[in-house]
Amino acid sequence: MQSGSGKASMKDNVRDLGLFGGVPAFHDKLLVGRPNPGDRDVFMQRMSSVLDSGWYTHHGPLLQDLEQRIADLAEVEHCVMVANGTSGLELVLRAANLSGEVIMPSMTFIATAHSVRMHGLTPVFCDIDPDTGCIDPAEVERLITPRTSAILGVHLFGQPCAIDELRKIADANGLMLYFDAAHGLGCTAEQTPIGGFGQAEVFSLHTTKVVNSFEGGAVVTNDGDLAAEVRSLHCFGHGPDNVVRRVGTNAKLSEAAAAMGLTSLEAMPDSIAANERNYHHYREELADVPGIDLLTYDPANRNNFQYVVTKVDESVHGLRRDALLALLYAENVVAQRYFSPCCHEFEPYRSEHPVTLPRTEEMSKKVLTLPTGPSINREHIAGIGELLRTAVKYGNEITSRWLELA
Ligand SMILES: Cc1ncc(COP(=O)(O)O)c(C=O)c1O
Repeated sequence: MQSGSGKASMKDNVRDLGLFGGVPAFHDKLLVGRPNPGDRDVFMQRMSSVLDSGWYTHHGPLLQDLEQRIADLAEVEHCVMVANGTSGLELVLRAANLSGEVIMPSMTFIATAHSVRMHGLTPVFCDIDPDTGCIDPAEVERLITPRTSAILGVHLFGQPCAIDELRKIADANGLMLYFDAAHGLGCTAEQTPIGGFGQAEVFSLHTTKVVNSFEGGAVVTNDGDLAAEVRSLHCFGHGPDNVVRRVGTNAKLSEAAAAMGLTSLEAMPDSIAANERNYHHYREELADVPGIDLLTYDPANRNNFQYVVTKVDESVHGLRRDALLALLYAENVVAQRYFSPCCHEFEPYRSEHPVTLPRTEEMSKKVLTLPTGPSINREHIAGIGELLRTAVKYGNEITSRWLELA
């Protein structure tokens, strides 16, 4: 049947599907976010320099270089590298002394909500623009109370939020505006890089992201005081004079992580080019697959195409999204439900503050993110396209047989 090269076997009937006992279409697992490490030799040289110097952490030379390069890329004055994106979001909130309620979308990774709730604030979940999945400014306005201190937008899948509208609402109500830009490295809002909007933005350099530092995050801002406070808080609350003035944590990024971050960042143009090629291949493949709709990115903004997001519409073909997920897994196509369930559907949020968000829930029921990245090629995508065509053709039958298996 299938080889490691990428060519999938044809499967035009239900019997041959891996879910029902057939041989998987792909020998190796195809992943949504395989790491993009960049040039291995360059990484090894950097690691040697770390070992030689004995400077493993505490704002070493590689970290300083990485901070400067990310600040340049985002066209901002300050970048503070931190242990991960979640810590970055927490540190911004602490640095700004936020309290009370923070309005945010629920259509995001759980870390966005936890970053607020961990510090005793209340995430107030807001519905979305159904086309992009990003926070809907009209809904934000409706949710403002005397306890609201901030709006936290998420540039979902690298698509910029409605930044100008959010800024106007924040200014009119004296609220802080900041952004979870975990998906946003290398993306723009029209001509302006994501990174410089609101009071601060936070990138993730997690292993699965377009640029990784194994784990890592970057707080980027043009606010010098906020940057200084984040820098202090991420290192036990120390000031530049080494005097401790408030409670801080340890969210420093090591030199080893910075070595990977730099090398992966150097590969970013190639990684994005591969993602973009893949995205267009998927678009061709999915054009004749009814009820599996590709999320399209607004060409006015540059995207990094690290997410190939589809919406699976059961009403068209009878194929349930989770049946399709199981089907693909069995073929070694490791698709992901980004983001389903979404935040307000998880504990503790669903018990503490039950809300109904019709557009978010509609999207959450349908989303399925497909493998991409430089390790995915045209043949893989053609094979996935074949599987999807077969899956929708026999949608009702697959769903009922999957329900029997469950
Ligand atoms: C939207 C979003 N926000 C925050 C995070 C958290 O980032 P990290 O994993 O670097 O803590 C992620 C992680 O994948 C994410 O997708």
